Amino acid sequence: MFPTHRCRRLRKNETIRRMVRQTAVTPDDFIYPLFVTYGKGVRKEISSMPGCWQESVDEAVKNAKEIYSLGIPSIILFGIPEHKDEMGSGAYDDNGVVQNAIKAIKDAVPELYVITDVCMCEYTSHGHCGIIEKGDVNNDKTLGLLAMEAVSHAKAGADMVAPSDMMDGRVAAIRNTLDREGFSETPIMSYAAKYSSAFYGPFREAAESTPQFGDRRSYQMDPANRREALREVALDIEEGADIVMVKPALSYLDVISDVKSTFAIPVAAYSVSGEYSLVKAAGRLGWIDEDRVMLEILTSIKRAGADIILTYFAKDAAKILNG
Ligand code: PBG
Repeated sequence: MFPTHRCRRLRKNETIRRMVRQTAVTPDDFIYPLFVTYGKGVRKEISSMPGCWQESVDEAVKNAKEIYSLGIPSIILFGIPEHKDEMGSGAYDDNGVVQNAIKAIKDAVPELYVITDVCMCEYTSHGHCGIIEKGDVNNDKTLGLLAMEAVSHAKAGADMVAPSDMMDGRVAAIRNTLDREGFSETPIMSYAAKYSSAFYGPFREAAESTPQFGDRRSYQMDPANRREALREVALDIEEGADIVMVKPALSYLDVISDVKSTFAIPVAAYSVSGEYSLVKAAGRLGWIDEDRVMLEILTSIKRAGADIILTYFAKDAAKILNG
């Protein structure tokens, strides 16, 4: 009790603050998302995500070198195919844009850990995350295609696959198929608690994956639900997930914290496109100190319990953290 206890004693100067600091963010925590498109020499800035690009494979290779040189260990790849169709066939085409990017990047920067997003929405003409039947995504028919997509990524050299579609049973389907095809050592990071969120808006411009009708509420989670996240995560762990993800991050710190304290498995958090765009926009307007807000957000995600953060800020933050 005061005056015996004075919390300010341990805040006196930066040295003592450093000594008692409870959370550290480092570039080791980051996975940087890349949007790979067809063509050559393409580097098109995403208007709602300044500092992020759609880039062709040759440009992605250059970017990968820079990313690795900044001390960021990993990237996650999203593909924008030349053609989309009802069955999303570009997703599991061994010559698809992501497959070619994996090969080229692993060739140029073998130590960079390449993760792939496994989902149909970037490849389907209707923009949904699976096969459409009677106006809704058919869960069980989608599973086989997701498994084919994951195997196709693993064959191209992906270090890890990350299903983001939210179909029930997809982790088991992918695990079984990977094992059968000789990829028993390829880990799965599942987007286990993925909410139906308006924070994905800018991503859909980036990945050209806006649903052409309806929305994703019949497969992604209701933002109002907290306990349901634990059920989703438990099921994915049972099915064989190696890492579980909560997405988005900033509005879901309670969920990150719950998952961390309930399960002994690495927890990833995806700080999504809208979280990035908000900070960039306010920064440009001069309304906030962009760098400080960025670092505070990343720290809060880590403090809530994330072991890994997927973030479009990875390069900006690494530059500051590297000093
Ligand atoms: C694909 C996918 C999405 C994101 C990652 N994977 C979009 C969605 O579900 O609509 C969002 C990422 C972001 O907003 O940064 N299913």
